[in-house]
Amino acid sequence: MNYNVLFLPHNQTITVPDGETLIRAAMEAGVHINASCGGEGVCGKCRVIIEEGSVEEGITEKLNKDDLKKGYRLACKSVIRSDITVRVPVESEVDASALKMKPTARCTARIVQPDFESLKDKGLFTPPVEKKYLELPKPSATDNLPDTTRLVSFLKINHDEHRLVVSLPVIRMLPEILREKDFKITATLARPVQAGRKSYIIRIEPGDTTDRNYAIAMDIGTTTIYGQLIDLKTGEVLSEAADFNGQISYGEDVISRIVFAEKGDGMAKLHEVVVSTMNKIIEKILRRAKVKKDEASTITLSGNTTMTQLFLQVNPKYIRRSPYVPAATIYPPLHARSLGLELGDHTEALVYPQISSYVGGDIVAGVMGSGMYRAEALTLFMDIGTNAEIVIGNKDWLACAACSAGPAFEGGGISFGMRAARGAIEDFSIHPGTLEPMNITIGNVLAKGICGSGLIIMVAKMFETGVIDNQGKFNRNLGTNRIRETEDIWEYVVAWEEETQIGRDIVLTEVDIENFIRAKAAIYSGCQTLLAEVGLEIGMIERIFLAGGFGSYVDLEKAMTIGLLPEMDTEKISFIGNSSLLGARMSAMTNRIRQDVGDVMRKMTNFELSETPSYMDNYVASLFLPHTDIDLFPKVKARLKNCDMKQ
Ligand code: FES
Repeated sequence: MNYNVLFLPHNQTITVPDGETLIRAAMEAGVHINASCGGEGVCGKCRVIIEEGSVEEGITEKLNKDDLKKGYRLACKSVIRSDITVRVPVESEVDASALKMKPTARCTARIVQPDFESLKDKGLFTPPVEKKYLELPKPSATDNLPDTTRLVSFLKINHDEHRLVVSLPVIRMLPEILREKDFKITATLARPVQAGRKSYIIRIEPGDTTDRNYAIAMDIGTTTIYGQLIDLKTGEVLSEAADFNGQISYGEDVISRIVFAEKGDGMAKLHEVVVSTMNKIIEKILRRAKVKKDEASTITLSGNTTMTQLFLQVNPKYIRRSPYVPAATIYPPLHARSLGLELGDHTEALVYPQISSYVGGDIVAGVMGSGMYRAEALTLFMDIGTNAEIVIGNKDWLACAACSAGPAFEGGGISFGMRAARGAIEDFSIHPGTLEPMNITIGNVLAKGICGSGLIIMVAKMFETGVIDNQGKFNRNLGTNRIRETEDIWEYVVAWEEETQIGRDIVLTEVDIENFIRAKAAIYSGCQTLLAEVGLEIGMIERIFLAGGFGSYVDLEKAMTIGLLPEMDTEKISFIGNSSLLGARMSAMTNRIRQDVGDVMRKMTNFELSETPSYMDNYVASLFLPHTDIDLFPKVKARLKNCDMKQ
């Protein structure tokens, strides 16, 4: 159920779902309400008057009986349960006239996920492992074929399976298992990568177990590892789990992990901890769905090149040395057990191939999972994290590049930066007249820090309101105690000490903004350079896919305001979530992906940005908000002009 909320005196109406808090509705509507405690109900600054309708109120000591009688409520503690009219009193926004600037509501990407049902409709639901129930004729004096021959010829005659290899463990167990249930067995067949090649019989079980065939899809991220359990009969995801990659204790990013791997038994240690994290996730998803470990017939894995090599115990040393070559691009199917994974002896492990040292299997999985390699539409795929990987192309050609953005979007290098977790400021607004902030934290608790998506909004809002200039420097003459100089560094106080969980003022400094601008410049210039290398301009791109944990929360308009994303129609931008996991899942559901991946690898041209002369020039030009060439951002230019005129 949705409700209309009318904000006065702005006359701004917004429709929100039942249960939304008033402060989030205000943020969404672009209506500023002072709020510096993140929505915890502590600062008492977000007072509003409910003029019509009612809200569900949280307990607060910040309002007395008299206030309540007059209709005052705290916006952060008021839950919308009906259509309401809300007046934002002067003390909560001080100067309503300054808000005549067109409010910009939060604009996030549409979430797009492939339609797995259509795989079935198109006959593409063909998992890489398949179970077949067989009732074999029993041997007799006139039919005394060896057990293995009996199995193979039965499959050939009755199931059209002409090219089969029987693994030695299957031969070893076949005589007993055949006789356990009167020659009624289930055979598990592992399909080849290329059509027409041999399938392997990897397991036999007594009786009919065809309804218990499962796959695991896993994304081995540098920070987090995600796993999903898939029912190969229905295609349904039965359970999922995630955990921090245990390697984090040995370095935050891939370079520090490679450095660690080079020391003594460093590589063995990193392998051990990543496998341990993976096994924990496997155990969890199997337990949750009540599936036994040997019922998982396959595990499909994707990760960046360093994560993949460390997992496979392939020394990643040369990944960080010029000319940056990975050990391999394609890995053959492997036995999950041989890699240390606690799964069945027969469970096959399929590892996504790598393009280069910095465009790994996670990106190939994203390209496969998103389907961009099969589409006519010219697509720009971006996975933004510590490293940003960019792929451009369509069904005919593909080009890719990676750039190092640094950890700013994950909170690194920012004084009060943090990952998106409870207490992180994820939404922000600044009053253009009073320069007071409106902070909203994840979980509506006292603020702990600022996460990447909050940071983008914060820098964009400060830029739009003239609090910072296009180089990220604070305007020193605004006459607010929020902007101050501490130890030669200028900063803005986002939340005062008593409005935080950490007992210290949360600030955004010029150094933070500088680090942030460098990160966004690396990504934008990477895009710009790759586009130029393939002879395209951003206007020619028909759609953008944003991948990664970051994309779903990014305010697209703000990301363009600061020049992180190229300016384009936000309708053309979709968020596809964890595309690495998506690709791993797709591979578990259709063998067609494995067949197509070779083709994609051949079509993909990798550009080393560090070797591309124009990259540095583009990078330097991008070290401004949004860019030295503001004409690349016509909408931002118009908006800024509009703001200037109104101020
Ligand atoms: S009391 Fe509502 S934001 Fe602080």
